[in-house]
This record gives sequence, structure tokens and C-alpha cells, in this order.
Amino acid sequence: MKQELADLFRRRYACHLFQGDRPIQPDDLDFILEAGRLSPSSFGLEPWKFVVLRSPRHKHALQGACFNQPQVGTAGALVVILAKLADLAPDSDYARQLLAREYPGDQLDLAMSNYRGFHGATDVRAWSVTQCHIAAANMMTAATAVGLDSCAIGGFNPAEVKALLDIDPERYEVALILALGYCAEEPPEEKLRLPLSELVEYR
Ligand SMILES: Cc1cc2nc3c(=O)[nH]c(=O)nc-3n(C[C@H](O)[C@H](O)[C@H](O)COP(=O)(O)O)c2cc1C
Repeated sequence: MKQELADLFRRRYACHLFQGDRPIQPDDLDFILEAGRLSPSSFGLEPWKFVVLRSPRHKHALQGACFNQPQVGTAGALVVILAKLADLAPDSDYARQLLAREYPGDQLDLAMSNYRGFHGATDVRAWSVTQCHIAAANMMTAATAVGLDSCAIGGFNPAEVKALLDIDPERYEVALILALGYCAEEPPEEKLRLPLSELVEYR
């Protein structure tokens, strides 16, 4: 298990061109989405929504909103990860329902009050988007596990993506787009990463 996981992390790379004619099997896509669903979230509020796009029309339109990056138009599927905004308000039915699940019975009032204080002092948009990136990372690892390639796409015009997908900007921010499919390029020969000795400080 340990070695398999290490291999997945090493094998995943950002694919810049997919085999546009090769579809993704539905159960592989479900597996990837399930990895997103099971991701951890602050207060257990699951601040994400996954919009799956598979039609050539959608992929082509999204490519235009992503600075014309070819991996967007050639992907087998795109998962647009939306970060929840309005649902995270402390007085929303959504927040109350999910907090009641995490903090049952008489714990709820205190949890709601703590959450209200936290929400008021937080950049909610950034907080929500950051958590979506955690789900995205898990989905990319899951994609590698089923033999699929991926590319995280942060290079997009958020207003254009929202307009194309008819997204209510009060309800959602676009966090990230995941392009998934079978890569048409060879994997890079080496992983370009700083060594742990430059990244880690033990105190
Ligand atoms: C949040 C985020 C946004 C990214 N946006 C893009 C993008 O718009 N286009 C792209 O080609 N790669 C994008 N990438 C991929 C990175 O460029 C890539 O992961 C990095 O260069 C390391 O290479 P590797 O993933 O192949 O190891 C993004 C990665 C992350 C985590």
C-alpha cells in the first residue's frame, strides 16, 4: 500500500494534450468523483460541487475560457470544481444541516455560535476555494490509480467560465478545473521538485 501510493504520486504529471477521441469509462469517472466526495473539509461543510463536462461543445467552449489551453479541449472529461459561497453563510439551511450532522444534539448551538464567529472573521471565498483544491488533489491521485492522466487547470477566466456554465456568482466561485483523459504525450523523464532538505525544517 505504501509503495503503491508513493508510485501514484510519482507517476502523476500534468498532461498538456489528451487523446481527444478516447472516452473515459463511467466507473473510472465515478471512482475519481468519489475521491473528491470523501475529501476532508473544514467543519465538515463539503464546500464543493463537481460539474462534469463531456460534450465536445462544452470542452471547446471551456478551452476558450482557459486561455486556449489544448488539454482542455482534448480532455475526455472536465470536472469544473465550484466552491460554495452562499451555502456557507451561518444562517443558511445548508450550513445548519451539515453542522447538525457533525455536531449532534446539544452540541449544535455552541458549534453554530463558533462557526458564526469564524465565518465573520474569514475570507470565505478563499477558504472555500482552498478546500476544493484538497478535493482536486485527491481526484488527481485517484485518476492515476485507474490509469488516467490529468491536468489541474487554474489558468481560466472565472467570469467567462461562470457565464458559459450559467453559474450564479452569489452561490459559487470557480475553484479549479480538472482535465482528465489519456495523455497524448510521453510522461516527463524526471519529476522537477526541490529536495526535502530545502522544504522541511524540523524544530
Ligand atoms: C492549482 C493549480 C493550477 C494549475 N494550473 C495549470 C494550468 O492552468 N495549465 C497547466 O498546464 N498546468 C497547470 N497546473 C499544473 C502545474 O503546472 C504542474 O502541476 C506543475 O508544473 C508540476 O508538474 P507535474 O504536475 O507534471 O509534476 C496547475 C497546477 C495546480 C496545482
